[in-house]
Amino acid sequence: MSQFIAPGVAPEPVASPNDLDAYWMPFTANRAFKKAPRLLVGAKDMHYQTGDGRQIIDGAAGLWCVNAGHGRAPIVEAIRAQAGEMDFAPPFQFGSPKAFQLASRIAALAPGDLDHVFFVNSGSEAVDTAMKIALAYHQANGQGGRQRFVGRVRGYHGVGFGGIAVGGMAANRKAFGIGTPAADHLPTTYNRAEQAYARGEPAWGAHLADELENIVALHDASTIAAVIVEPMAGSTGVLAAPQGYLQRLRALCDKHGLLLIFDEVITGFGRLGHAFAAQRYGVVPEMICFAKGVTSGAVPMGGVIVRQPIHDCFMKGPEHMVELFHGYTYSAHPLACAAGLAALALYEDEDLFARALKLEASFADALHGLKGLPNVVDIRTIGLAGAIDLAPRPDAPGLRGYQAMEETFHRRDVLVRIAGDSIVLCPPLIVSENQIGEIADKVGAAIKALA
Ligand SMILES: Cc1ncc(COP(=O)(O)O)c(C=O)c1O
Repeated sequence: MSQFIAPGVAPEPVASPNDLDAYWMPFTANRAFKKAPRLLVGAKDMHYQTGDGRQIIDGAAGLWCVNAGHGRAPIVEAIRAQAGEMDFAPPFQFGSPKAFQLASRIAALAPGDLDHVFFVNSGSEAVDTAMKIALAYHQANGQGGRQRFVGRVRGYHGVGFGGIAVGGMAANRKAFGIGTPAADHLPTTYNRAEQAYARGEPAWGAHLADELENIVALHDASTIAAVIVEPMAGSTGVLAAPQGYLQRLRALCDKHGLLLIFDEVITGFGRLGHAFAAQRYGVVPEMICFAKGVTSGAVPMGGVIVRQPIHDCFMKGPEHMVELFHGYTYSAHPLACAAGLAALALYEDEDLFARALKLEASFADALHGLKGLPNVVDIRTIGLAGAIDLAPRPDAPGLRGYQAMEETFHRRDVLVRIAGDSIVLCPPLIVSENQIGEIADKVGAAIKALA
């Protein structure tokens, strides 16, 4: 890995791999990638560097995770120091101090009595863990019949068998057989006819939460363990919860004794201007799944924050017994804990969550300024997240989006995320107003070039 090179300084030559074949890339069009690779070799603050020395402005916080910006010295130093001090500590029956410190810090950031943190290594593991805790909780409470889950169409909850069951993306599930938990799906909250070009939470759509009543009527509440939603669906194109929707869902879950799980893998740690989106909406779920931003993407980590009564329900029986038969070798890995503590300190020192809220209006102005460009059919923004929907090319859904990613990366020096034919933008929270303008200009130029 080369050093990051400041703009204007000639880059050192970077060794590029001579064979791209062996690596089967995740969620990637492998054959297209290997014909025209997008290789990243360095990163600092708001920029990536390519092997040929180009500076690429990061419009996607890596993959929704690098909230504090790249290569931040306190995080780098914390990881380096931890690697020298202790590389690994078994998390089963042993612990290391930073795991406890980080859990306390996260619990302090979370709303209400969400006071206990179970560490995992990714968002997918966080979702599957929350689902298992929900099942085990009901069983411990004498309600073992509560086995079903409710997710939402166009939800994304990672790729574990639990996550693909509650997720509402057919492509992520249909190739993988029938071995998933039973799940029903609320309708998507997105409706272009009612919500096009929304800034923030759309005014239309709170009533869509009421569909939960029909699902309960179909199966009976006594068979349903939990409802899981993203407060803002990120991976399927930045679909903000309509005004009042999450409050309504909370009330219905209370009415029927269903646990409410917020999947905040994307919205956690500042994306919507608060530590957690739950705080933006004043809605307290039973569990919050997090990952990504907890370490600002520097070391894999995820987790589930659990309300006090749920946690306490497990703390029964003989004290020498394991209370929850669940965990991962790398839960609370020392490097991740060190990175997490450093990231949270940076968020606080630089007030980055509030910064996201402050920048929300300028970010919205910049993206909505692209309205009217060729093939743009909708634009949505909330917090420091936004999506620009492009009309699909006839008979080739996803192609225009893919071409937008190629055009932005290879010719406009900006990294974006795509979701089908949507361009998704979610820069690090350190982005400046000028850089927001630069990202929007570059994306706009790419959209015009594709017309
Ligand atoms: C809401 C949500 N849940 C879960 C996941 C899965 O996280 P991971 O890729 O770390 O397993 C993601 C990833 O983007 C996500 O956006």
